[in-house]
Amino acid sequence: MAFRLLLFTCLAFISCQKESFNTCTDTRSLHESFTYPLGVAYEPNYANSDSSYQAISKRHFSRWTPENVLKWSSISFQPYQYYWEEADAFVAEGLAAGKLLHGHTLIWYRQEPSWLGTLSLNRQGWEELLRTHIRTVMTRYVGKFSSWDVVNEAFLEDGRLRPCIWLTHLGAEYLFIAYEEASKADPKALLFYNDYGMEDNPAKLNAVLRWIDQMRERGIQLHGIGLQMHVLLHYPNLGRTGNTFFRLAEKGLKLHLSELDVALNDPMKPGEKPSALLLTQQAYRYQEIIRMYHSLPTRAKFGITLWGISDRYSWLRTPEKPFESPLLWDENYQPKPAFCAFAR
Ligand code: G3I
Repeated sequence: MAFRLLLFTCLAFISCQKESFNTCTDTRSLHESFTYPLGVAYEPNYANSDSSYQAISKRHFSRWTPENVLKWSSISFQPYQYYWEEADAFVAEGLAAGKLLHGHTLIWYRQEPSWLGTLSLNRQGWEELLRTHIRTVMTRYVGKFSSWDVVNEAFLEDGRLRPCIWLTHLGAEYLFIAYEEASKADPKALLFYNDYGMEDNPAKLNAVLRWIDQMRERGIQLHGIGLQMHVLLHYPNLGRTGNTFFRLAEKGLKLHLSELDVALNDPMKPGEKPSALLLTQQAYRYQEIIRMYHSLPTRAKFGITLWGISDRYSWLRTPEKPFESPLLWDENYQPKPAFCAFAR
């Protein structure tokens, strides 16, 4: 109750606390201003060819999530064979730089290897394959990744389970199997369920909460929820988002804002560069989200992770949206107003 009061008081005052984001000093690491880990999605391909990318990820962030190198299609090109070179390099580099490592992701309906679709297995074979993949990846990195997104995006907007190869062959049971195997593979790792849109979608949120209850009834470990938070300037509604933060924290879960970025493309016309006003609005949006997250109880704050460093490499920057600018640094690594929202 006290937390709910604090949250709504915080929300009520956010609009009164507007400040300038035009100037801020880049003198200390961003993560030093935070009482919980500040993370970033890290892509070794960019780091290898771009010294600014590498320097910023080392200096400003205390936790790294592999953006792609740990996904199943990145580590297995042939049935049951694993290629660890890039994932191992990510781990070695992250640990050498003193970073916490968050594993992303073991089971996702996208970026699965194409050979999965060619298999002809019975139910037991599919279950063994699911378990073997989780066990193989997690045991390789025991003590290195301290947390994992075990399953990513398993629920649809209306709360039903998303069709995927595992649902087809194992039914809803696959979710329980995945977490049971993950907690056996690395009993010390924190296990997360990661998804988008739950923060402002009661149907999806309630479905996930019901599934969490079922996990608890069966005694299967789940330590936290990753809210991806790929947000826009006007979506999601922050009142409902705060309420979701609160409901998950009240359930005793850790909360990870796991892939945060703020897209501008909606109000921008295609081909238009973001105006100074839009960039300032973006900084406010980031600030509001950070403040709401701050007001959670300490035990619930697993951390905030940004889904990239420079706008140059953002997954949101596409040929159709060449000037999309969702991150803290622009394409030339100049800190944006959004950087200042974090640097205080
Ligand atoms: O590595 C190949 C490269 O060899 C090739 O030349 C190039 C040509 O397009 O593609 C490269 O792979 C791309 C990969 O990113 C690495 O850049 C894939 O095509 C591209 O599909 C892949 O996109 C990633 C996307 O997940 C895949 O769905 C994004 O980088 C990554 O940011 C994004 O991250 C996801 C999270 O994992 C889950 N939540 C949503 C989020 C955004 O979609």
